[in-house]
Amino acid sequence: MLSKPKTILLTGGTEGIGFALFKQLHSQGHTLIVVARNQQRLSSLQSTYDRVSTYKCDLSSRLELESLCNKISLNHLDLSIIINNAGIQYTPKFLDNDFSFDAIEHETRVNFLAPVWLSSLLLPTLIEHKNPGAIINISSALIFAPKTNSAIYCATKAAIHSFSQSLRYQLEQTHVQVIEAIMPLVDTAMTAGRRDGKISPESAAQQIINGINQRRSEIYVGKARLLPTLMRVSPSLVKRIMRRY
Ligand SMILES: NC(=O)c1ccc[n+]([C@@H]2O[C@H](COP(=O)([O-])OP(=O)(O)OC[C@H]3O[C@@H](n4cnc5c(N)ncnc54)[C@H](OP(=O)(O)O)[C@@H]3O)[C@@H](O)[C@H]2O)c1
Repeated sequence: MLSKPKTILLTGGTEGIGFALFKQLHSQGHTLIVVARNQQRLSSLQSTYDRVSTYKCDLSSRLELESLCNKISLNHLDLSIIINNAGIQYTPKFLDNDFSFDAIEHETRVNFLAPVWLSSLLLPTLIEHKNPGAIINISSALIFAPKTNSAIYCATKAAIHSFSQSLRYQLEQTHVQVIEAIMPLVDTAMTAGRRDGKISPESAAQQIINGINQRRSEIYVGKARLLPTLMRVSPSLVKRIMRRY
């Protein structure tokens, strides 16, 4: 899939796992279209690297996302891979004082609706481009069983898992592969202050890229690869482990 230079749309490519993916894919000769909100980080990418286009877009806004997709389908006819990486996680529990009602919708828009909207609006560009393409969704080990905190986050990742499977069936007869990368704890801003046992964003990115090259539909990164077997042997053990994750 990545053996020849491709044009890749990468959401959230300015930080964390996305930035590690950006650096590795760029060094392999690919052209990157990076989407995020922070203009300073986008400008810094644009001035440091060649073969990069950046778009400032708040993916939680349907209007901004539609305008972004219009520009991309006009300006990047060679787009063949979308990596839906941008994500957010709010931690409060429903009964916590700082639980925000508005955050429910915001988190759902960024983590679930944005990848679905992007897939829908840019699929015609991917299909039009006759070479092998892919939609790659970054999900989480929490798709197997949720944790206690971040109920909406867990639900959005489970929804992305389900969506990835259905879309894969729908695109079976096309040259567009649907890939899901299932992540363990990774050392990024999202997990700042969390306990040990995190892998580096660089290692996470490398394992995702290896999985894409091996044409896997589901890429289990790090310790997440233990979960399918553990789920078969003892689903209740997995639930106990994950509720404290
Ligand atoms: N870190 C982990 O342990 C872990 C585990 C499992 C799964 N994941 C998944 O991996 C992906 C990347 O996570 P990460 O830890 O690398 O996150 P991160 O370091 O917090 O980076 C998030 C990226 O998403 C962008 N972003 C956030 N909200 C956005 C919005 N509304 N519109 C556009 N861009 C937005 C951010 O840029 P701006 O702020 O400039 O918009 C940033 O580039 C996420 O989908 C996450 O759920 C992470």
